[in-house]
Formats: sequence, structure tokens, C-alpha cells
Amino acid sequence: MKSLAELDKLRDTLQQEMKARQGEHDVSIAVSMGTCGIAAGAREVVKVLLNELKEQELSYVALTQTSCVGLCRQEPLLEVKMGDEKVIYVNVDQEKAKEIVRRHLMRGEIIKEWTAS
Ligand code: FES
Repeated sequence: MKSLAELDKLRDTLQQEMKARQGEHDVSIAVSMGTCGIAAGAREVVKVLLNELKEQELSYVALTQTSCVGLCRQEPLLEVKMGDEKVIYVNVDQEKAKEIVRRHLMRGEIIKEWTAS
């Protein structure tokens, strides 16, 4: 179990890395970081996304966070925006996050079975 200070430090680090990825981008990913999103594993999803975007050299993709969107039971939520198209993935875990980067962001394939219905 991590101490409160360790969790605060982790949050600050993640926020700094996420800020560095914000800006003018045609492609963006937003992770819902409300209370239930964090409780459901949103921080771990963000960590995987940061690593995957770095590994795949997808510097054109912005990674941001949103607050609660009122879908507790479907957290963690991840929104992928490419131009005018917006897709919301639900119940995203670390493996799904990697797949979304590789299939949706890199190949343009929307993984319909993981999206909000
Ligand atoms: S905190 Fe769960 S839907 Fe808002």
C-alpha cells in the first residue's frame, strides 16, 4: 500500500507528463479521472498510455484527462478523438488501453465491442 505522499507524488508526475502531451493535436485521448475512474484503475491506464505512446512514437497524439462523466459502472472511460470523430471506450484496463493505441490510433480500427453503447 502506498502512502498518501507517494500517491500525491505519483499524481503530480502523471499530470506533468500529461500536460506535456497537451496542445494542438488532431488526435487526442482523454481518460476520465473522476473518483470512480481512479478507483477503477484510470491511473494505471494513463501510465500504460504514456508508455505506449512513447514506445510507438506517437508524439502527435495528445493525452488529456476529463472529470466524471456520470458513468460510474463503465469506468475507466477513454475517449479517442480523431478530427471530428469521437469514440468512447468503456471498462478500459491496461491491456485494452494498449490495444486501443495499436488498433484504433495506429490502424484507424474502431474496436466496437469495447465502446459505449
Ligand atoms: S464519480 Fe462515478 S459517475 Fe461520477
